[in-house]
Order: sequence, then C-alpha cells, then structure tokens
Amino acid sequence: MAIVNIPAESVTLKEDAEVGAFLARHGIDYEHWTPAHPVSADATAEAILAAYGSEIDALKARGGYVTADVIDVKPETPNLDMMLAKFSREHWHDEDEVRFILEGRGLFHVHPSEGPVFAIEVEAGDLIRVPRGTHHWFDLCGDRRIRAIRLFQDVSGWTPHYTESGVDKGFEPVCFGPSYVTRR
Ligand SMILES: [Fe+2]
Repeated sequence: MAIVNIPAESVTLKEDAEVGAFLARHGIDYEHWTPAHPVSADATAEAILAAYGSEIDALKARGGYVTADVIDVKPETPNLDMMLAKFSREHWHDEDEVRFILEGRGLFHVHPSEGPVFAIEVEAGDLIRVPRGTHHWFDLCGDRRIRAIRLFQDVSGWTPHYTESGVDKGFEPVCFGPSYVTRR
C-alpha cells in the first residue's frame, strides 16, 4: 500500500482509504491491486506484458493509453544514476504518468499548484496515475529496485519538461521501506 508524507505538516498517511482520498483531492488516481501473475526475476519485458495483458488492456480502455512497456532496474543496472537523474529533478509531462508497480519501491514527490509538497511511496501492487502537467519528481528507495509497467498515451509526448525551480533539492528521498511493511 502506498504511503503519503506531507513534510510541511508532519503528516503521514498510511491507511489505504485516506491515502486514496488525499491523492484524489490532488487529481491523482490510486488503486492497490494484487500482482496476480508472478513473473520470474529475469522475465523479459515481453513476458511481463503478456502476463499482465488483460490488466493492461483494461487500463488502456479506461485511460486512452495506446502502449505499455516495462521499467526494470536494480542496483547493478548500468548507468542507473544517469537514468535516475533524469527524473529526480522537478518536471512535468505532456501526458499522464501511469505506473503499476510489480516489484521494489519508489518515491514520487508532487508539488501541487496550491498546498505543500507531498511524497508518495509506492510498492508492489500500487497503481498510480499522475495527471499530465503535474509538477513532480521521482527517486528510488534505498534498495534501488523497481519493476513497473508504464502506460503511455503517446510515447513521443513523454519527455520530461524541467521546471528548474530547485524545489526538489529541499526534500530528502526518504522511504519508510520494508521496516514499515513488515509491521502490517
Ligand atoms: Fe515524471
């Protein structure tokens, strides 16, 4: 289940219903699914997309997404830091950022037009849609592992536009991580 943290208010939301309600107020769709099709650690993107074909088709029908791919990174992924640097500065996209997390964890920071910056820590089973135009940035958690299905309305439109605000520098990418998960 996702966790929301609002540093300026020292508020952390951990209950699914309150996380969903908070995110909905900011136009962010959130659902928690059970990853129902176990795939091996070395499964190819094609195999993962095939295993989740029915879920992907349902999401495409709902959101007008035309294509899907898989992001699959681990600590030993070549050029990982370079890859992550593209997304850890505040930016927006011309289309929705849709992710279904299959494995690992990640941390979105969202900078709404009104109200303080908040962080969303996602884990396996979390489905999140950050609407186009939303100012945000993304970091991995300490385990530097994430495998997620990404959906696109138009792949060519999914270029980050950087705000260059520097706001992201004021927030540490701190995850609750597995220590919280094991307490559930
Ligand atoms: Fe992004």
